[in-house]
Amino acid sequence: MNFKQQLEEKTRYAEDVLKKYLPQEKGFQKKVLEAMNYSVMAGGKRLRPILMKESFLLFGGEGEVVEPFMAALEMIHNYSLVHDDLPAMDNDKYRRGRKSTWNEYGDGMAVLAGDGLLNLAFESAASAFELTDDPKSLKRVALALKVLGKKAGIYGMIGGQAADIEAESGGSVSKELLLFIHENKTAALIQAAMMIGAILAGAGKEAVKAMEKAACNIGIAFQIQDDILDVTGSEEVLGKPIGSDEKNHKLTYVSLYGLKEAKKEVENLSKEALFILRSFENQNDLSGNKPYKNPFLEELVTELISREK
Ligand code: IPE
Ligand code: IPE
Ligand code: MG
Ligand code: MG
Ligand code: MG
Repeated sequence: MNFKQQLEEKTRYAEDVLKKYLPQEKGFQKKVLEAMNYSVMAGGKRLRPILMKESFLLFGGEGEVVEPFMAALEMIHNYSLVHDDLPAMDNDKYRRGRKSTWNEYGDGMAVLAGDGLLNLAFESAASAFELTDDPKSLKRVALALKVLGKKAGIYGMIGGQAADIEAESGGSVSKELLLFIHENKTAALIQAAMMIGAILAGAGKEAVKAMEKAACNIGIAFQIQDDILDVTGSEEVLGKPIGSDEKNHKLTYVSLYGLKEAKKEVENLSKEALFILRSFENQNDLSGNKPYKNPFLEELVTELISREK
């Protein structure tokens, strides 16, 4: 199987896992459940659950304990997009080639669908406790929950989104602020993916720290590329409006340094991340016979450098 086929298979798997945790559309709250499923099942690359599973595999993880977290993280990512598109935030009418959630269901339902996804995410992740009796594994699940909460919250994605909208009105524009925004609004969820994968597989503290750093680079590079595509991409391929950042006076790597510099930065950050990912190869697990290596994960990170959607 070549990389593309592998990626397709892994995307399908991530989607199958996700579907297991999505709500059935019934009851008096049916509308909000529809809006939640509409948001999540619109396609999407499923990058975060894939990165989580591949990080789990990198450290020799086995079993299903990672699955509730894969679903949870993709729900949180989707809730962040539902709110991000709202008129009060980026005011974008389209996402993944169709109407954004507020544009289809109205602002109120979109706010609630996002809230619903966030809560369902933690309810789903907590079900990992039911998949194991092993005390060590239970402890890992608890730690993974803490990482999920932190990286999705005010010291992660929400913090970054807050700084992102505040920066729209100008004020002090600095590289530090730009880095804070990228690191938090985007890299934090990628960090959650890769750290949780490693934690659940039983990786040690040092290895989890290294994954946090690698994921930080991957996440910042991912957002810079998103900002590049907001200028150079096409709406048909991206499935979302281009020019959104300019419309909203966003502080981006492109607006601050220009396209050429931005592209170079994506490459540099990704290369650094690959260096970290390859550094585990010479460490062995406790049984001493499994090298920590994941060629698919390395190729995925490499491919992201030149992604067009
Ligand atoms: C979009 O994320 C938001 C950013 C953090 C740039 P993705 O590009 O992963 O969106 P989907 O899930 O594939 O649609
Ligand atoms: C969004 O960044 C990051 C989130 C946490 C949702 P953008 O606002 O650039 O994402 P897109 O371009 O709308 O997908
Ligand atoms: Mg935004
Ligand atoms: Mg946006
Ligand atoms: Mg964008």
